[in-house]
Amino acid sequence: MMHSEIIEKTITFVKDTLKNAEGGHDWFHIERVFNTTKSIARHEQVDGLVVELAALLHDIADPKFHNGDESVGPKTAQDFLNSIKVDEKTIAHVVKIIQHMSFKNSLEKNQKAFSSEELKLVQDADRLDAIGAIGVARAFNYGGFKNRELHNPSIPPNPKMTKEEYKKSNAPTINHFYEKLLLLKDQMNTETGKKLAKERHQFMLDYLDQFYKEWNGEQLP
Ligand code: ADP
Ligand code: NI
Repeated sequence: MMHSEIIEKTITFVKDTLKNAEGGHDWFHIERVFNTTKSIARHEQVDGLVVELAALLHDIADPKFHNGDESVGPKTAQDFLNSIKVDEKTIAHVVKIIQHMSFKNSLEKNQKAFSSEELKLVQDADRLDAIGAIGVARAFNYGGFKNRELHNPSIPPNPKMTKEEYKKSNAPTINHFYEKLLLLKDQMNTETGKKLAKERHQFMLDYLDQFYKEWNGEQLP
């Protein structure tokens, strides 16, 4: 099968599977990550089919909605790619990438180190969608979904939280910027990703400035 045909079939499958997904992980998130992946891939030496498939399939089954089961996503992707007869080497690599993206919170527990240029690239594309204007929107959407406060000056952010504390935390959404989103810029892997992250990072800093000005009534006449 040709590259374009594999990608088309995968898009159809992902759209269909994510029909009822929540806002932060819906088809449009996948589409943005897919487009960003293709843009970055033009500037980096990677296997184009592997990164495109991994971008499309990386959130195919969020463990948050499968009783924390992190194996559902990789398995769903593997079965699908087998069914359309993608070659085994490509499937194995795509599945490893998805495992690694979704196992990100339990790395030290049960994952042997795996890395590839393709994984790093798709990770960058996914992280870029968590920052900038879209990142702001997704964070408040998630906070609303969890019924969290926007901001509470008496609950300071804790950027040094452990992963366990982070999962349990019910902190206001503004804290998420200091605990995660503002740290992503320095975690970018590819040169292209780093460049793209700069503007989005600065946008979040400007956004926070304005947020506190309005919160503190500084611009009132
Ligand atoms: P990914 O898209 O990498 O799988 P997550 O599932 O952790 O990431 O998060 C999805 C979106 O929800 C991201 O934009 C992220 O910033 C946001 N989000 C996750 N946790 C929180 C939180 N505690 N407060 C606000 N937003 C959050
Ligand atoms: Ni994602």
